[in-house]
Amino acid sequence: MQKAGTSAHRLRPRPPFMKRIGILTAGGDTPALNAAIHGAVVRANQLRIEIYGLIKGFNCLFNPRVPHLHLNPLFQEIPELDPTKGGTLIGSSRDYIDPDNTADLDLITARLAKLGIEGLIAIGGDGTLNGLQPLAERLPTVLAPKTIDNDLGLNYPSEPDEWVRRANSNGGSEVEYSRTLSTTTFDLDQIVNYATPGYATAVLVTAQGVQRIRTTAESHRRIAIIEVMGRHSGYIALGTAYGQPDIILVPEHAVDIELLVDRVKHLYDLQKNVVIVCGEGIVDHEGVEFGAESRSTDPAGNVLLSGAADALRAQLIQRLGDRYFQRYRRGCSAREAIFTRKVGHTQRGGRPILFDRFYAALLGSKAVDLLIEGRNNAVSILQYHSQKGFHVEGYDANRFRDRWGLIHARKMHKSLYDPRLMKPSRVGIDYLMPIFTDAIGNDDAEHMRQTLFDPGNLAQPYHSINTDVHKRIRYLEPSI
Ligand code: F6P
Repeated sequence: MQKAGTSAHRLRPRPPFMKRIGILTAGGDTPALNAAIHGAVVRANQLRIEIYGLIKGFNCLFNPRVPHLHLNPLFQEIPELDPTKGGTLIGSSRDYIDPDNTADLDLITARLAKLGIEGLIAIGGDGTLNGLQPLAERLPTVLAPKTIDNDLGLNYPSEPDEWVRRANSNGGSEVEYSRTLSTTTFDLDQIVNYATPGYATAVLVTAQGVQRIRTTAESHRRIAIIEVMGRHSGYIALGTAYGQPDIILVPEHAVDIELLVDRVKHLYDLQKNVVIVCGEGIVDHEGVEFGAESRSTDPAGNVLLSGAADALRAQLIQRLGDRYFQRYRRGCSAREAIFTRKVGHTQRGGRPILFDRFYAALLGSKAVDLLIEGRNNAVSILQYHSQKGFHVEGYDANRFRDRWGLIHARKMHKSLYDPRLMKPSRVGIDYLMPIFTDAIGNDDAEHMRQTLFDPGNLAQPYHSINTDVHKRIRYLEPSI
């Protein structure tokens, strides 16, 4: 029996509190989305709040029938929700709400009200947080962060004030954003949202990728260029240092091609192979991306990048030339010796490792608490303190916005990287260690041992979570 006034009683919110909340996952899928949903559902169960999963992110709000899923009937989590599974059982999309389209906003608000949703949790990154802003004026919203790019956050609290905006230099109607010189001293303890669920698992995949490619480069005396994701943020490239590539190139520091060629030659002379990691958003000395760009659909103006590694390869082929390789590899051309690999979507998929699962669940749970505390337009964030370690907090979304209201993707702070060594700097190493030192749980390794070569995998077809979830999807009567 619990006595009155014990913690179990204090957990119960005093009315009026929310009876039903909605949750959605938006943007590119990321490991630990299910873990974040799980954390939210566990907390909602404790507080006796119903929680509905909205199918395929913001996309479902444009559908008059608002496909949704009751995630905790009778305050029990549905068995399909497995926090160790990658992806998201409620689906995701890159759809967002146009803040200027009041007709759509009215419809969406009415649909959520009809569904009895009193508060909304979105699990997403900077694009999702931008997309949430117009909705936050109509119902309580909270963001629980996720992104493999680790670009949702601030290097220090005053960072949004450093953005300046001016008319596009080409004379078009669009505006351009740039940064003023920062006068802030960078301090790891001041980072807002130190790391984001999904990042650690992505780095596990890229670091393993480097180790695997290395053996081929070593055996065949080749130069490998491995492209990793992250858009204009170099965190994934930086963390890939755990795989011990020889050279890392990040978007935050323009590639010094002369220095790079010298370094490649030195390493190739010495060890007859070189492994280079490049972020997909690396730029030349004029700030132009190596990879071709095409516009994506999210309101943060995020762009899709491709081709950085191939463009870099072309430059190395040209600068090193065939004769250089013929000295080391009889009859071999530069084209044969230098190869590229994209780690690609494998870094976004699959089972999340312990660090991501654990903190995603805490951030999901904190998002529920923020809604219940009446914090509208808030973000649950993961904070780090050199003495106390990690803890979760609430942060006002408004503090992520620049003077014009836009939320920018966080770039890796320049001091985390040493452009001369082309590797993480001492500060970079200090930044990475708290995230990765114990990031892998015993169960992560054991899970692979037990499941990958299970003979059943050969005989049984893949069973998609979507098949089970489909049976649970409910719809609104389409009157609005
Ligand atoms: O933002 C996450 C991310 O994985 C980026 O690193 C990458 O550039 C982009 O999404 C890829 O998007 P898509 O899966 O839509 O090609």
